[in-house]
Amino acid sequence: MKDTRSNPEIKKFAGTAAARLIEDGMVVGVGTGSTIAFLIEALGRRVREEGLRVVGVPTSFQSRLLCGKLGITVRDMQDCASLDLAIDGADEVDPRLDLIKGGGASHTREKVVAMMAKEFVVVVDETKLVPALGTTFAIPVEVIPSALAFVDRRLRDLGGAPSLRMAVAKDGPVVTDNGQFVVDVRFPPASDLRHTDLDLHRIPGVVETGLFFDLASKALVGGGSPGSPTLRTLTRTA
Ligand code: 5RP
Repeated sequence: MKDTRSNPEIKKFAGTAAARLIEDGMVVGVGTGSTIAFLIEALGRRVREEGLRVVGVPTSFQSRLLCGKLGITVRDMQDCASLDLAIDGADEVDPRLDLIKGGGASHTREKVVAMMAKEFVVVVDETKLVPALGTTFAIPVEVIPSALAFVDRRLRDLGGAPSLRMAVAKDGPVVTDNGQFVVDVRFPPASDLRHTDLDLHRIPGVVETGLFFDLASKALVGGGSPGSPTLRTLTRTA
């Protein structure tokens, strides 16, 4: 479910800029994905070169491995109840800074970490900006495997078109870091996704959705061209 339109150079520019938001002494939620991998690289450099003291709370095995490799101290999510800041990527960002996340199947942990943080900042390249959520991306829904058939039926009853996410370098479905499956659901255009999100949370067997409403306070958006990248900051209004 990863996008193929984004340019890695622009992601790197935005991810590197996001690492500058982190201050000495912070405990920071570290999201997942290719943009966040660039943030982790830049943060590792700041730790080594500036002696920055930070603790990273990774939202995935992938981010944890990278933090460890680059010398960033990590703490388990389960040992945290609050964070100074959380930074993460996204698959879609609408004008209110509501998001679709979960292209890397980590949205459940990512949502917990986003909510734990005093401030949640999203970092993306401009291909992720959409007029309305659901424009390009389906809604990832994490589901416990034993409820798959039931949840699939309920998703169809809600007007969705569900598709079990399949692994690429493994036979069978994607299995999340929580040991669950991901179902990507498309809803008809102009659906009221806030309402749909409440309906999704009422289905037993649904763990979490990739809809992030009212969580991001700011978006760092990379744009321009690889030779001449630009960065703008969007701020949530009300
Ligand atoms: C993982 C996510 C990622 O943040 C999202 O998929 C964006 O990834 P990338 O920076 O690789 O485009 O939600 O679950």
